[in-house]
Amino acid sequence: MNGLVQWIDDRFPLTKVWNEHLAQYYAPKNFNFWYFFGSLAMLVLVIQIVSGIFLTMHFKPDTGMAFTSVEYIMRDVPSGWFIRYMHSTGASAFFIVVYLHMFRGLMYGSFKGKRQLVWLIGMALYLALMAEAFMGYLLPWGQMSFWGAQVIINLFNTIPVIGNDLSVWIRGDFVISDPTLNRFFAFHVIAVPLILVMLVFIHIVALHAVGSNNPEGVEIKQGPKGNRWSDTAPADGIPFHPYYSVKDIAGVVVFLMIFFAIVFFSPEMNGYFLEHANFEPANPMKTPEHIAPVWYFTPFYTVLRAVPDPFGGTLAMFAAIILLFLLPWIDKNPIKSHRYRNRANKVNLAWFVVVFLILGYLGVQPVTDVLKELGTRMTQVYFLFFAVLAIHSNPKEAKYGLWFVVLLFVVGITDFIRLDPSFSAEQVSQFWMQLAIPVAYLAMTLLMPMLNAGCNAEKTVPERIA
Ligand code: HEM
Repeated sequence: MNGLVQWIDDRFPLTKVWNEHLAQYYAPKNFNFWYFFGSLAMLVLVIQIVSGIFLTMHFKPDTGMAFTSVEYIMRDVPSGWFIRYMHSTGASAFFIVVYLHMFRGLMYGSFKGKRQLVWLIGMALYLALMAEAFMGYLLPWGQMSFWGAQVIINLFNTIPVIGNDLSVWIRGDFVISDPTLNRFFAFHVIAVPLILVMLVFIHIVALHAVGSNNPEGVEIKQGPKGNRWSDTAPADGIPFHPYYSVKDIAGVVVFLMIFFAIVFFSPEMNGYFLEHANFEPANPMKTPEHIAPVWYFTPFYTVLRAVPDPFGGTLAMFAAIILLFLLPWIDKNPIKSHRYRNRANKVNLAWFVVVFLILGYLGVQPVTDVLKELGTRMTQVYFLFFAVLAIHSNPKEAKYGLWFVVLLFVVGITDFIRLDPSFSAEQVSQFWMQLAIPVAYLAMTLLMPMLNAGCNAEKTVPERIA
């Protein structure tokens, strides 16, 4: 064995790479639950690629055959149902894992300073993942595949001047048809997976060049005497392998138990993972009663629907994603982890989670006056979150009272623009009642720290991780 390794090492830096990225990659000793999701995301990527290869062996990218070829996989191909359910469950699992992974970055400020690029590459991964999921969803050629793609591609129509030509160019036809299915297939099975794998590679290379953050948000102490493994290694670091490789295996076991419980017992997840309308073949002559994207897109879908003007809605939806890219420049507080930041920051984070979940829930619901207004109010808070985060960047100098008035004024302007004389009495009453939501949000995140010094107090960041 040693001889073989030596033979390879003489020709390729195998041991060097192993040491640099595993056996001698010193990670902070205090990783917690939230640090499982990076390796779980890699695991899900492998599950998707492997199950995808087997699906491709039987799938037919042709509008006349796509739906039936999926039925054939489900009924006639040995274990075909298992492969397909792994792939469809894997898509949702990917987003669950990646959302938790991103939230960890938000909590511990992992997007700051020298990790800015790690975050940006992560965001590029997130975009690629959305494109991959969107194109994959057209392939089974069910009702929701067809009409979901129709709604999303039509968004491009709202762009002035070039919009119509652009959407024809994307579809390859005036309607969603065979060329659309074929090109989505090409992108889904080869182009985007390649991009994903390359991005994951540079995500890890970038991270290992600067070192991992940790729940305390304190950089691990370098030397002078190093740790017990090496004189030059950081004193607060432990080798990734075997310590974290073993810890990650525990996470993988728990994850796979949940994953396969879903694959075997509830692969449709009550219509959330596989929508009911998609069990009917695509019919361009029959619009489903209620078109909704899969759950992982719905927060942004609600943002889109919250703006009455279609182009404005499209812009708002893209802005909601771009703001995530800009987080490293929005939150300038040098304290990384929420553990040492003031209580107002924790309240802000909690609001963000709740608002994101509600936006997601609203995106799968049919529109009613109450829910439509709620979607708009949640969208307002979503955008306010980033403004408040920037204001919290420097709590000592923050002019909370002034910002409270300014942001309330901004809410008032957006309300003034959308208040329409054609609103029904129910809509008007919802409009006023739900104004309490952004007001409560701004009061809790801006007025509370102004009135209560305890709520504005940051803790002293320790020199070393605990
Ligand atoms: C296919 C998707 C992704 C994969 C496979 C992946 C993989 C990983 C892995 C293995 C790590 C190191 C282990 C860990 O810290 O958990 C990591 C760290 C990190 N990832 Fe990702 N990631 C993905 C997507 C994202 C996205 C969408 C973002 C954010 C926009 C992101 C931001 C980060 C950051 C900031 C770190 C450093 C965290 C720290 O040190 O505290 N990643 N990623």
